[in-house]
Order: sequence, then C-alpha cells, then structure tokens
Amino acid sequence: MTARILMCPPDFFGIEYEINPWMNVEVAADHALATEQWNALHALLAGTGAEIELLPPVAGLPDLVFTANAGLVYQQRALVSRFRHPQRQGESPVFRDWFAEHGFEVVEFAPPDEGGGYDFEGAGDALFCGDTLFAGYRMRSDATCHQQIGSLLGVRVIPVELVDSRYYHLDTCFCPLAEDEAIWYPPAFDDYGRRAIEGTIDKLIAVEQSEAERFACNAVVVGRQVFTNTGCNELHAELRDRGYEPTATPLDEFVKAGGSAKCLTLRLDGEQAASWRAAN
Ligand code: ARG
Repeated sequence: MTARILMCPPDFFGIEYEINPWMNVEVAADHALATEQWNALHALLAGTGAEIELLPPVAGLPDLVFTANAGLVYQQRALVSRFRHPQRQGESPVFRDWFAEHGFEVVEFAPPDEGGGYDFEGAGDALFCGDTLFAGYRMRSDATCHQQIGSLLGVRVIPVELVDSRYYHLDTCFCPLAEDEAIWYPPAFDDYGRRAIEGTIDKLIAVEQSEAERFACNAVVVGRQVFTNTGCNELHAELRDRGYEPTATPLDEFVKAGGSAKCLTLRLDGEQAASWRAAN
C-alpha cells in the first residue's frame, strides 16, 4: 500500500512567537535554508514512493508547516486539532477545510459549552503503535479528551503524561516503528508513563539525551525506512542493527521552532492501527 503524507511548504514559516522552550524570537530561522531543508525532506519522502499531498501555506500561520498537528487521522476519519495556544488556533479551520475537501469525514469534540472544551494537538500527541493509541497530555493536549477519542474512533487509548517542557508533544519523545517496536526518550515521561509504554511495547529503543535534543524521536517512518534530523548517529546504528534503513537530513531551521522531520508530516494512511493496515 502506498504511503500518503500531508506536508505544507514553509513559505510563511518563521519564529514569530514563543510557545515552547525551543523557540526564541531573537533567533530567526533562515528562510532560504529552511526552504532548502524542507525541500530535501520532501524529496527523500517522495523517493520512498510515498504520495505527498501539499497543503497551501497561509500567511500569518508560521507553524502551519507542522502538519502533524492538523489532527488525528484514523481510517477515513479526521479528528481536527484544537490548539492550546491562541497563536496556532487559526490553523484549525485551515486543516478542517483541507480534510473535508479531501474526502475525510471530519469528526470534532463537542463544543466547549457542551463539555467538550479540550485541547488536543492531533498526531503530534497521539500515535498508534499496533492497535493501541498512545496519547500524550499535559503540555498541549488534555487527558480529559482521551475517553472521547476512544469512543469517537473506537480504539484503545493509553494516556501518557509528558513531564519535560522541551518534549511537549508526544512525537518529540516517542516514535512507533512497527506493531511492537518504538523509539523513545524515557526521561520525557513519568514513572507511570514509562511503565505503561514498557508494559505494552515489546521492543523499545531508548535514545540518549544528546540525540533526543536533536529530535531523534521525531522520525518519519515509511516501511523500514526512517528519516530523522542529523546528529542521531547512535540511534541510526541501532536502527540498522534491527533491520531498518535510517537516513539523516538537516532540519535545524525547524528545530528552532521546536519541530523536526515527523512534525513536518502527517500520515494520511497506514499510521493507523495495524489491523486496519493489514486489511488494506
Ligand atoms: N512551534 C510549533 C509548536 O510549538 C512546533 C510544533 C511541532 N510539532 C510537533 N508535532 N511536535 O506548536
């Protein structure tokens, strides 16, 4: 099955506000370099045979490039994100329209005045490993939405608390590779979260702090191919030992915004539960 990935060109990308510890408005992103880095990632992913869909960029939404935060896609349904920070809230209607125009059934939480006022930042905070949805909370998404996600999508959800503000989205510290295998950075979780992950996933690759800081966990996985930022050599060696094919591509301009490879992509297929993948 061909992988389908949503990306958004970085025409309006920049560091215009600070909503995570990586962002510093005084450290501007180099626009030409960001474009070059984004193009290189795009070319690598297209080279896997994946079909890349492009979301038209929008002026005034510098973080729209991080399509992982568009929503959570499951089969033909898309649960649109509700951003915690006002700076990103203007992205939700853009993502909602894109999903609706591309054949997804848009599902949303109840409105805030009907008890559904949750923050939820999509695939940035919710990742399937096998049939289980791991859902990060505290920094950007609320734990109170997990029960609704479980019932809206009909999946098992394991909530895990994120305890280090540098790893504010689950996809900055956890990356499923296969049904029973994942990359992670254990210090980003509390004891309970670590036990929940260790108790559910057989094969775990822990990254070191220096590589976690290079966004080693923020990897794009297409089959056995794994794409990350540069500076993740130990992880790459471990991945090769386990039969994966890692590739490094520089993404430093996006690290200045607190994102890397995975954040710049949203799987529109196949990142879903293993049973769905197998049946299609
Ligand atoms: N500047 C963006 C933010 O703080 C980065 C988002 C990164 N996305 C991700 N899926 N981790 O919201």
